[in-house]
Amino acid sequence: MTQDQLKQAVAQAAVDYIAPHLTWESIIGVGTGSTANCFIDALAKIKHTFGAAVASSEATATRLKSHGINVLELNAVPHMSFYVDGADESDIHLNLIKGGGGALTREKIVAAVAETFVCIADESKLVGVLGAFPLPVEVIPMARSYVARKLVGLGGEPVWRQGFVTDNGNLILDLYGMDIVDPKDLEQQINQLTGVVTNGLFAHRPADILFLGTGDGVKTLTS
Ligand code: 5RP
Repeated sequence: MTQDQLKQAVAQAAVDYIAPHLTWESIIGVGTGSTANCFIDALAKIKHTFGAAVASSEATATRLKSHGINVLELNAVPHMSFYVDGADESDIHLNLIKGGGGALTREKIVAAVAETFVCIADESKLVGVLGAFPLPVEVIPMARSYVARKLVGLGGEPVWRQGFVTDNGNLILDLYGMDIVDPKDLEQQINQLTGVVTNGLFAHRPADILFLGTGDGVKTLTS
């Protein structure tokens, strides 16, 4: 199977997982990236079975709307059963690195609201220890150099993602060279730095279930 076929398989697995729980009142949180795009395309086929979606990025909102799916602002949503999104890395406890597409802050906010976070990924994303993928850190523009110096102090090598501005008008520092043995602790340490909006570690709010696309079919992992 190609990587694209694995992404489509996990996207369909997520739709099959949530479909029995949907009513016309259901609001679904939707992530960002190529795997999330596969999910949107699969979700479109059952668009008459739920109420609306909340998007974690402008790009996702555009794709949802192109399928005729109603998109709501998160502030208008009192309750969300499911958030479905991809990841850049996951460990077996479903701690994640996200933000390769730069949407980490909105993704983290929507994930925080959802009762169940369903992660979908191909098998290349499952790792023993997080950190081979550079950890994205969203920073307020004027704090970029200050935060970069502090990240060096934490033992990493921050690299400014050139030419990229987040949907929130901020910058991304990609943090290389970290062996993340305690993801909760590092998530907290980085978030405490003044000028950091958030970082791409999802350890305080990990995924609840991971559909992992493998050559032997879709495997299910739970946290
Ligand atoms: C975007 C993300 C994505 O979920 C992550 O980058 C995975 O993307 P893809 O499914 O394209 O591999 O966190 O900010």
